Amino acid sequence: MLDATPRKKLVEVRDLKMHFPIFAGILRRRVGEVKAVDGVTFDIYEGETLGLVGESGCGKSTCGRAVLRLYEVTEGSITIDGTDIADWSPEELRKMRPTMQMVFQDPQASLNPRMTVANIIGEPLDEHRALSKKERLDRIYELMDHVGLNRDFANRYPHEFSGGQRQRIGIARALALNPKFIVCDEPIAALDVSIQAQVVNLLEDLQNEFGLTYLFISHDLSMVRHIATRVAVMYLGKIAELAPREALYDEPLHPYTQALLSAVPEPDPALEAKTERIILKGDVPSPSNPPRGCNFCTRCPQVMDVCREVDPEFREVRPGRYVACHLYADTKSAAAPNAARSTRQPSEPLRE
Ligand SMILES: Nc1ncnc2c1ncn2[C@@H]1O[C@H](COP(=O)(O)OP(=O)(O)OP(=O)(O)O)[C@@H](O)[C@H]1O
Ligand SMILES: [Mg+2]
Repeated sequence: MLDATPRKKLVEVRDLKMHFPIFAGILRRRVGEVKAVDGVTFDIYEGETLGLVGESGCGKSTCGRAVLRLYEVTEGSITIDGTDIADWSPEELRKMRPTMQMVFQDPQASLNPRMTVANIIGEPLDEHRALSKKERLDRIYELMDHVGLNRDFANRYPHEFSGGQRQRIGIARALALNPKFIVCDEPIAALDVSIQAQVVNLLEDLQNEFGLTYLFISHDLSMVRHIATRVAVMYLGKIAELAPREALYDEPLHPYTQALLSAVPEPDPALEAKTERIILKGDVPSPSNPPRGCNFCTRCPQVMDVCREVDPEFREVRPGRYVACHLYADTKSAAAPNAARSTRQPSEPLRE
């Protein structure tokens, strides 16, 4: 989509950590922490969609919320449009809010049931813009047009709408202040399958029309393949792999990505019969007590001794392809190791 022109980084996240304290006992003493996001680094270029995928509980939502500074982050930097907001106070953040918005998974829960659609969409305008009554209503109507909601419904309440329409209300509200960057946290997961494509198409149309940049969080790998420019795969609070969409789906490098993609159902029965599923053993470890070394070492089909000792660096192993895995420790021009070769030592050169 953006390949020909030099791309501007709109969002730069460096070594971001979000740890939640765990308290226990009568004295509510701090006994540990949930390392929900444990050192993630990525960029999002202007106008692109970065897909963020991974199993339930791996830290996707926490990452999205932390990037928007809905939390007091534990560590790291978050630069949005040239400004590092990681340490900003609530008051400073308020000024930044129009630039960055969020669309939530469950429009039922995220919309105030006591407010009319017009007031839900108009609320950010009331807070950040000084508009006359007419200007405000015109803007609300304009936003309703953008997301395909009938203006006649402006005075109705959220419960009078279907799930898909409610998500449109949420999107209109997110658009009210002309944001540049929107975090979409599973925006279609709560919708009927028949409605999902409509909402995804709407998000794509709006992106083209307004040059929006998305962080699109989902556990639906097929949907992410459709919408994302690049994809980041998360496992237990860290990014295992980040790559342009086609590269990731055609030739996943990280053993975890390989396993995740092998589990996606293939619609073509001939291909489906040939597909080899990689079944991972064991459960995802607790984020309050992640394994030593690589956090995937307890389940990795290609685990080596070094993996149990040393946390692999997340690095660019080929242009635009980032992996945190000791299989790619040696060379920048690494090729994907054969999935069956689990005995290769990390010092062995990788095949071209
Ligand atoms: N406010 C919180 N306090 C304590 N722990 C939390 C908090 N929010 C999330 N966690 C924990 O952090 C981890 C990551 O949760 P998160 O919701 O980010 O995962 P997720 O990838 O979005 O999962 P899902 O796909 O189910 O939405 C989980 O172990 C969760 O229990
Ligand atoms: Mg989530």
